[in-house]
Amino acid sequence: MSAPAAEPAGRATAVAPANIAFVKYWGARDLERAIPVNPSISMTLSRCVSRTTVDLAAGEAPDEVWLGRIDDPGAWTDPGDAFRSRVVAHLDVLRRRHGLARVGPGAGRFRVVTENSFPAAAGLASSASGFAALAVAVASVLRGGGPATRISDLDRGELSSLARASGSGSAARSVLGGYVEWPAPGGAADDPRAVQLATAAHWPLCDVVAIVETGAKQVSSLEGHRRAAGSPYFARRLEELPRRLETVRRAIAERDFPALGAVVEEEAIDLHLVAMSSRPPVFYWAPATLAVLDAVRALRRDGVGAWSTMDAGANVHVLTTPDEEEAVAERLRSVPGVHTVIRDRVGDGPTVTVSRGEPVDEEETAR
Ligand code: PMV
Repeated sequence: MSAPAAEPAGRATAVAPANIAFVKYWGARDLERAIPVNPSISMTLSRCVSRTTVDLAAGEAPDEVWLGRIDDPGAWTDPGDAFRSRVVAHLDVLRRRHGLARVGPGAGRFRVVTENSFPAAAGLASSASGFAALAVAVASVLRGGGPATRISDLDRGELSSLARASGSGSAARSVLGGYVEWPAPGGAADDPRAVQLATAAHWPLCDVVAIVETGAKQVSSLEGHRRAAGSPYFARRLEELPRRLETVRRAIAERDFPALGAVVEEEAIDLHLVAMSSRPPVFYWAPATLAVLDAVRALRRDGVGAWSTMDAGANVHVLTTPDEEEAVAERLRSVPGVHTVIRDRVGDGPTVTVSRGEPVDEEETAR
């Protein structure tokens, strides 16, 4: 990526989706740099997104960071110090990687406004979508050349690395659409970059999310990664992973839903087993989580293809096919303790819109 002009200016808005992991990233070789112990595979979503606008200006004022909600445009809030520091830390890495100083000649400072279409910090990968959107928006606004930046002109491997540099490893997968694998490195010094296994069009799977908790979780995924290796089951799970990864890759290639579902559900239970047996233990589930897991098993007994998975939170993602999405959503809505049901599905990955002092002029969807 080329360095910006001495007096950079412009705006980029990136919309990046969350993703749901089929095989999870859990446990890090280097937590600060989000270097994973194991490879992971996910499906990029389409409705659960972060929209992040960055305005780039010269000058020495501090970066500004604001939080909003896509469904409530008037609701701008101060995100608080912890969130702001994480965003500014990521901006510092992005500045460094793009050869941009924070102060002095050629400096760039950012005003960032980021919004989620779904509850943040509730195990719905808001950090994945948020940091992927920030990496794409910053890379786009800093890219020299014409007035518009096409996301396909940006190097996806580099974007994956830039998103991961936020410290949220799962963000490395959200820069690509469809089905995505993020490999594990040979050593902590490596820079593992996500690759696409299949496009969204290859297999239109749905993810019906049962929201049982909308508040922030008590233990962050960062802390969960930190504690993971303390579980006596951590090493045992790693032994299982080559088989699971291979099954998931094959199931995606062959669109074999029962094979995919069975291994995804097994993997999610294992992740939570590791979390619950870490020291100190991490309990992400709420009572309604168990009720949803039960409802999903009941759906299968009724002949409906539905399989559950959970990231680091209490909410349950239920994978299903377009034909059965309605039946699954209806059943989940009736489970006591379920506040909302989000109907999402596999998507094409981030989009970006760039303008440089003139009206927005181009948008492109990445595939
Ligand atoms: O990207 P992080 O550090 O928030 O960790 C993600 C952890 C899981 O969501 C539980 C698993 C995954 O691979 O997305």
